[in-house]
Amino acid sequence: MKKRLGIISLFVILFIAFIVVWNISYQAGREEAYVPVEAKSSVDLIPSESGVFERSEYALDYANMPVDINHERSLNNYYDNRAFHGAPPSIPHPVEDECNMGDNACLKCHQNGGYVEKFKAYTPVTPHPEMINCRQCHVPQHTDKLFKGTNFYKAEAPKVGVNSALQGSPPVIPHQVQMHENCLSCHAGPSAPREIRVSHPERINCRQCHVPNNKEVKDIGIFKRANHEIQ
Ligand code: HEC
Ligand code: HEC
Ligand code: HEC
Ligand code: HEC
Repeated sequence: MKKRLGIISLFVILFIAFIVVWNISYQAGREEAYVPVEAKSSVDLIPSESGVFERSEYALDYANMPVDINHERSLNNYYDNRAFHGAPPSIPHPVEDECNMGDNACLKCHQNGGYVEKFKAYTPVTPHPEMINCRQCHVPQHTDKLFKGTNFYKAEAPKVGVNSALQGSPPVIPHQVQMHENCLSCHAGPSAPREIRVSHPERINCRQCHVPNNKEVKDIGIFKRANHEIQ
């Protein structure tokens, strides 16, 4: 009798435990999916300029980083890999899984950069880690010559070192700002082309001093001084 009571109460306990566990998991399943939005900054940012701060946590590291001159890029290599100024560069290295659209397979190297022994180069940091379909725009190189001659030629890229109004004043930004909001990704660190590596990554708020080049050039014809006309 005692044994039977023992078995019955064991089953009763198991049944109650089942109801409790099932109830908890059922309630958990009904909870709304909620991803807390992290407050990134305590100061209000101008939305169109907020990209400037995307890598500013690394600004001091960039300022203190030694330069590895044997493996640095120049603007010539930089332009070489683009069909025209501002075009997405092609992928100059092998891509293992041809079906892979990108995501972490690319970001594990391109999110923060770093030296890759296999390619003997520093990884350029992507200015847009949030656009995870990398291969929608970046394609591997399969050939380095044209299939057929064409008369297409690249429009010239803006010159560097000639963009300041006065000697020592901050140069204007000669390129478009769209898709270029994250300044430090291209202008700082060992993968930045030597001609555009910024001497002051730690100043952080780049667009406080550097403004886009929206100068309009008007044709004024032949300039004549007005007082020459006076008889
Ligand atoms: C093992 C690390 C690694 C992985 C993974 C990787 N890359 Fe790269 N990537 C590099 C390195 C290093 C370079 C620089 C190569 C050079 O300069 O010769 C580079 C260069 C590039 C460039 C040329 C950038 C420029 O300014 O010319 C593009 C575009 C690129 N990778 C896209 C991708 C995409 C898309 C993926 C994912 C399918 C990917 N990479 C995966 C390390 C990596
Ligand atoms: C909507 C198209 C698009 C997508 C998607 C995209 N890119 Fe780009 N990417 C561009 C363009 C355009 C540029 C060239 C900007 C320039 O040189 O003016 C660029 C530049 C780059 C560069 C060169 C930066 C440098 O300093 O040389 C790297 C590296 C890169 N992208 C990696 C990636 C990776 C990794 C992904 C996926 C996480 C990705 N891109 C997704 C269009 C795209
Ligand atoms: C995709 C990479 C990339 C990003 C992101 C980028 N730049 Fe540039 N920047 C360049 C290149 C390449 C040049 C050289 C001229 C050209 O090709 O347009 C340049 C040139 C400049 C120059 C002129 C330098 C000189 O000596 O004349 C300034 C200033 C500048 N950029 C500021 C900025 C600021 C500020 C940001 C952020 C809002 C930014 N750039 C984002 C690639 C980039
Ligand atoms: C307080 C103003 C100020 C801020 C903020 C600032 N710059 Fe500059 N920048 C200058 C001045 C001034 C020069 C010209 C330096 C010279 O001619 O010696 C310059 C020059 C440059 C150049 C040309 C190359 C060089 O280093 O001389 C680049 C590229 C550049 N800045 C990018 C940036 C980027 C990217 C940021 C954000 C991390 C930034 N700047 C923040 C004032 C500023």
